[in-house]
Amino acid sequence: MKKVITYGTFDLLHQGHINLLRRAKALGDYLIVGVTTEEFDLARGKTNTHDSTETRIEAVRATGYADEIILEDHIGQKIEDIVRFGVDVFAIGSDWEGHFDYLKEYCSVVYLPRTEGISSTMLRDGSVMRIGLLGSGRDIVEFVAAASSNPLLRIEAAYIKDALRCRDFCSEHGIPIAASSVADLFALCDKVFISDSCESREDYVREAKRLGKSLCSKQLLV
Ligand code: CTP
Repeated sequence: MKKVITYGTFDLLHQGHINLLRRAKALGDYLIVGVTTEEFDLARGKTNTHDSTETRIEAVRATGYADEIILEDHIGQKIEDIVRFGVDVFAIGSDWEGHFDYLKEYCSVVYLPRTEGISSTMLRDGSVMRIGLLGSGRDIVEFVAAASSNPLLRIEAAYIKDALRCRDFCSEHGIPIAASSVADLFALCDKVFISDSCESREDYVREAKRLGKSLCSKQLLV
């Protein structure tokens, strides 16, 4: 079995992370994802991470690409992990080109193309928003069509109770993640569009408010 490992903060999980994880997984049979802890990020000077370690782990899990998720919490851990897990390939985005060549002594090192136009930094500073969709009414389809032409909005995930319908809806509309629960959906987005036709609309609105997620209306697109 060919084992691949990758690492990252994966703050405010976005399409760039999803592409990276998909490509990393395609390099082998088993993908291990190292998610940095809040403490490690602080220690290495990354002080503006938005999501907690737990939220970032859940977001990586929700992509469905990771076979195993571990925590990265100290310098020098990469070599330890590569040896401990018998890793064949270390993969990371091309913004790190050359930086991890020292690992070639232990396994092969692959720099994967970075996705243009999106980063956690952009999401943190509010220049791009991640949208989650709940339900499958006609208004959702209209919203998707309109939102797709707005460069400030990224539809990251959708949740429909019927998992098969949800997967079909996502592949038909090019939505990266078919969330497996409402909680997963909320973890993956900044704003939620809730279909008028949702049976549980009022519950979802309450849950969104409880989690501090704002609701998004069709007017947002005007
Ligand atoms: N990545 C990518 N394309 C992007 C953003 C990130 O391929 N647009 C990759 C990185 O190269 C890395 C992994 O995703 O291999 C995790 O990156 P991370 O630093 O967590 O995400 P960024 O969006 O780059 O975060 P920041 O803006 O805080 O630097």
